[in-house]
Amino acid sequence: MNDPLAEVRRRLAAARTMTVVTGAGVSAASGVPTFRGRGGLWRSFRPEQLATPEAFDRDPALVWEWYAWRRSVIAGCSPNAAHDVLARWSRRPGFTLVTQNVDGLHERAGTRNVIRYHGSIWRLRCAAAAEDAEWEDLSVPLDPFPPRCPMCGALARPAVVWFGEPIPADAARAADAATACDVFLSIGTSSIVYPAAGLAATARARGAFTVEINPDTTGAAVDVAIAMPAEDVLPRL
Ligand SMILES: NC(=O)c1ccc[n+]([C@@H]2O[C@H](COP(=O)([O-])OP(=O)(O)OC[C@H]3O[C@@H](n4cnc5c(N)ncnc54)[C@H](O)[C@@H]3O)[C@@H](O)[C@H]2O)c1
Ligand SMILES: [Zn+2]
Repeated sequence: MNDPLAEVRRRLAAARTMTVVTGAGVSAASGVPTFRGRGGLWRSFRPEQLATPEAFDRDPALVWEWYAWRRSVIAGCSPNAAHDVLARWSRRPGFTLVTQNVDGLHERAGTRNVIRYHGSIWRLRCAAAAEDAEWEDLSVPLDPFPPRCPMCGALARPAVVWFGEPIPADAARAADAATACDVFLSIGTSSIVYPAAGLAATARARGAFTVEINPDTTGAAVDVAIAMPAEDVLPRL
C-alpha cells in the first residue's frame, strides 16, 4: 500500500456499508478540548476525577461547574470540515456513525444515523433516578444552578455515560450490529475508553477493512493508520 489515502478512497467507493466511530479528536479543530492531550485539564482536575458517579455523589456542584464550563465552551464552537464530510457521507445508504462525543456537533452538522454512545451534554436526567425520563436543556448558563429535576425536585445530572457506567442498551446493541460492515473508520479517539475502543477490533474480526485517523497513532490493530488530523484527511477522501 504505497498511497494509503488512495487505498482508503478505493475501499470507500466499493463499500456497501461503512461504520465510523468518532472521539474527541474530530471536535478538536472546532475548539472543543479533548480529555487527553493539551487543554484536557480543568483547574487541576483530570476528567477521570470528575466524570464518575462517585465524584457527583461527593461534590455535585463541582462536577456541575465542570459541565457548565464545557457547555459554555461548546456553545461557542461550530462543526469543522471533518463533521461536514461525515454529514455528507451519512446520506449514503449503509452509513452508521457511532460517536463518543457528547458535544452534539455531528447532529449540528446534519449527520444522519448517529448513535450517541456516551449520551449528550445537552440532555439532563434526574440524579435520584426516580423516573428515567431525559430532557433537553440548551441554556448557558444553567438556571437554577445546579439544575434540578422538574418532576421531583432532586438534583439533575448530565445524561452522559460516566466512567464505570454502562452504555445505554439501545446504543450498545446498534453499535455492535454496525461492526458488521465493509469499511470501518476510527477517527480522533485515543482508543483507551472501553467498550468503544473494542469496536474496531470487532469490526476487523468480522472482516471489515479498518482505518484509523489520528495524528498520534494509537497502536490499535487496524489495516491502515493515517497519522494526520481528521479535518485535513476527511476532505481528501
Ligand atoms: N467533544 C466531546 O464531546 C468530548 C471531548 C472530550 C472528551 N469526551 C469524552 O471523552 C472520552 C474520551 O475518549 P476519546 O477517545 O473520545 O478522547 P480522548 O481525549 O481520549 O482522545 C482524543 C484523541 O484525539 C486525537 N486527536 C487530537 N486532535 C485530533 C485531530 N485534529 N484529528 C484527529 N484526531 C485528533 C488525539 O491524538 C487523541 O488520541 C469519550 O468518552 C467522550 O465521551 C468528549
Ligand atoms: Zn426526579
